Amino acid sequence: MKRIIINGANGYVASNFINELLMQHYEVVAFVRGNQKYSAEERMRDVMNDINDGAFVVPKNLRIFNYSLLEENFGLPEETLVELFQGDVDYYHFAASLKYDFKAKDEIFQTNMDGVENSVAVFSKYASDTSRFFFISTAYSCGKLAGRFEEKFYDIADIEEFRNYYEQSKRYAENLIRKHIENDRLNAHILRLSQVVGHNKTGITKTDYGIFDFSRRIQSLAMRNPDLKLRVKVDPESTQNLIPIDKVVSYLTQTVKIQQLPVILNVVAKKAVRNSDILKSLGELLPIELIPQMDLEKSEMSVYERIISIGMSFTASYTGTKIQFDTTKLDEVMEADDNEATAESIHRMITYFLDENSGKKDKVAC
Ligand SMILES: NC(=O)c1ccc[n+]([C@@H]2O[C@H](COP(=O)([O-])OP(=O)(O)OC[C@H]3O[C@@H](n4cnc5c(N)ncnc54)[C@H](OP(=O)(O)O)[C@@H]3O)[C@@H](O)[C@H]2O)c1
Repeated sequence: MKRIIINGANGYVASNFINELLMQHYEVVAFVRGNQKYSAEERMRDVMNDINDGAFVVPKNLRIFNYSLLEENFGLPEETLVELFQGDVDYYHFAASLKYDFKAKDEIFQTNMDGVENSVAVFSKYASDTSRFFFISTAYSCGKLAGRFEEKFYDIADIEEFRNYYEQSKRYAENLIRKHIENDRLNAHILRLSQVVGHNKTGITKTDYGIFDFSRRIQSLAMRNPDLKLRVKVDPESTQNLIPIDKVVSYLTQTVKIQQLPVILNVVAKKAVRNSDILKSLGELLPIELIPQMDLEKSEMSVYERIISIGMSFTASYTGTKIQFDTTKLDEVMEADDNEATAESIHRMITYFLDENSGKKDKVAC
């Protein structure tokens, strides 16, 4: 079986992908950074335990390495890298800073640009010509583009063209990959994900990103102040492109199997979910009434509305969007299924998430 090397392996999307690869008996190499409290292996085991309801034993086809994204050779011995990259390997670069606050600019660019450059350097030095480099990008590298976001390269642009530095850094990183494809014949593909949510069939939701971050903030306020009426600066008719984790994993697994892939794929949902449905779910699940009001000015806001508005500094920039993503190339190569997020499945995910967040379910330490 082909060897799959994955960095940022303990992250939400990567760990779910790895879980599937292990079940399909692929040989997986996981690069994880250890921290002061836990080793790379402990961190990986923890996250896999969480996915498998505590029943995970590191199998023979998973090897875990403690790496350093920005160090030469990832801080690993040369002979280890020679051995790992031997033969036909698919390498997935997942590691990224998903921060969005403007203060984190340096960290975002260091991780999402310098980290990618170093990753390409390691891959180019050790991998064979037939090995492939997959860069996990975001569909929101589209920035504030008006019109359809196509599966092609877009030039770098100033921060004004984006909602935050995260989006901009991913556009820069895509262009870095483009440069290596054109100048060094890097065998690379770019997979642009939209907002990844929980499991569409089970409702299990282990991410606190995007709409779940918003849900958590509303929950915290609602529990402290029951029966509050809260106006939120959200366009009820706008939509969110939410792609379930099981769908993303299915697409990613197909990229391993399909030999001829386009350079760029927009890995996004076909049907978007309306903001009004998300607000309705929260209103049903929590003792709060949420009133969408897109023209709500700061000066008119109550204290609570201001608290939520500040907490929404990231989410807010996506609450008035109806971005169109082109998926022509995705549709050409990937098998279609109708496993799409709906208002009902998102309701199940929010239910699970709020339940878990209120401490009803066991939590994992690291
Ligand atoms: N989740 C989404 O909705 C979404 C949407 C579009 C695109 N994506 C892309 O998908 C990829 C995975 O996202 P995710 O949601 O799974 O994120 P995640 O759970 O936050 O995982 C990010 C991973 O990157 C690692 N990382 C961050 N900074 C690092 C550094 N300086 N050195 C080494 N490793 C570092 C993290 O390691 P630590 O645990 O050690 O910090 C973690 O393993 C990212 O590239 C992201 O941009 C995600």
